[in-house]
Amino acid sequence: MKVITFLNEKGGVGKTTLATHIAAGLAVRGHRVVLVDADPQGHATVMNGLPKEPGLYDLLVRDLPFKDVMHFIPPEQYQIPGQPMTGRLFVIASNIETRNIANSISDAFSVSDRFSELKGAIDYVIFDTSPTPSLLHGSIYLATDAIIYPTKCEYLSFDGLVESIKHRQAAQAHRDKWNLGDIQVLGIVPTMYRHQTVEHSENLKELKRQFGDLVWPPVIQRTIWTEAATMRQPVFALAPETKAAKEALSLVDRVRKATVYA
Ligand SMILES: Nc1ncnc2c1ncn2[C@@H]1O[C@H](COP(=O)(O)OP(=O)(O)OP(=O)(O)O)[C@@H](O)[C@H]1O
Ligand SMILES: [Mg+2]
Repeated sequence: MKVITFLNEKGGVGKTTLATHIAAGLAVRGHRVVLVDADPQGHATVMNGLPKEPGLYDLLVRDLPFKDVMHFIPPEQYQIPGQPMTGRLFVIASNIETRNIANSISDAFSVSDRFSELKGAIDYVIFDTSPTPSLLHGSIYLATDAIIYPTKCEYLSFDGLVESIKHRQAAQAHRDKWNLGDIQVLGIVPTMYRHQTVEHSENLKELKRQFGDLVWPPVIQRTIWTEAATMRQPVFALAPETKAAKEALSLVDRVRKATVYA
């Protein structure tokens, strides 16, 4: 089982969009996936057509069993039309109560302890996080194998990225005390990219100068992404022939390649 977390302390950079697409895409590719909405805004919950509810809170604070908080998402909602489905996607929902988790859990290993129950039954756990750092993030770091940082090619998104990296380094120091090994940075994904703008192309160059091969090819800004969010479907289910769908699936395959389930 691999635990992958989407992080950037700047809001609106594409964390939820990428987390929901990677989760659904990994299921399309045949894996057993749990998408965890760890943001009180509950956007990953809503994007999967579920009502906001305290799923993660119930799991971590009320100690409910996974079977009571994991929603099975019907494949018709996210599969590529006409292609057979062998994977499965489950979502653990969120609502405003997620904000209270950090104050209510007794130790930093809560997330890690609970999710280790899924080993053997699930291939990927994907965490979508809130842009506001909290003690819940600290607990998620202790359970995380790999991080993906979505970022816009804009100054404030880079600032959020730098803050996120600082927090990862602090979390790594904590992990080292427990011999937990290194968190892998899978990549930095430039999102909502506009080729035509000097700002975006200059900032992408700067990102590559600083982070080299960790920077993935940019996801281009296209209206189909917001339309897909409105329809509560991934782009590859809604419009499989579009460039956005192909870009989304190439991200999914890149994640598979970078993890043991290649
Ligand atoms: N490639 C893209 N092209 C156009 N719009 C996009 C693209 N990627 C994401 N969006 C849109 O940008 C908005 C913000 O994306 P998203 O909600 O994924 O960001 P976020 O980082 O999760 O935000 P928050 O920090 O508030 O949780 C959404 O309306 C989404 O549909
Ligand atoms: Mg989000």
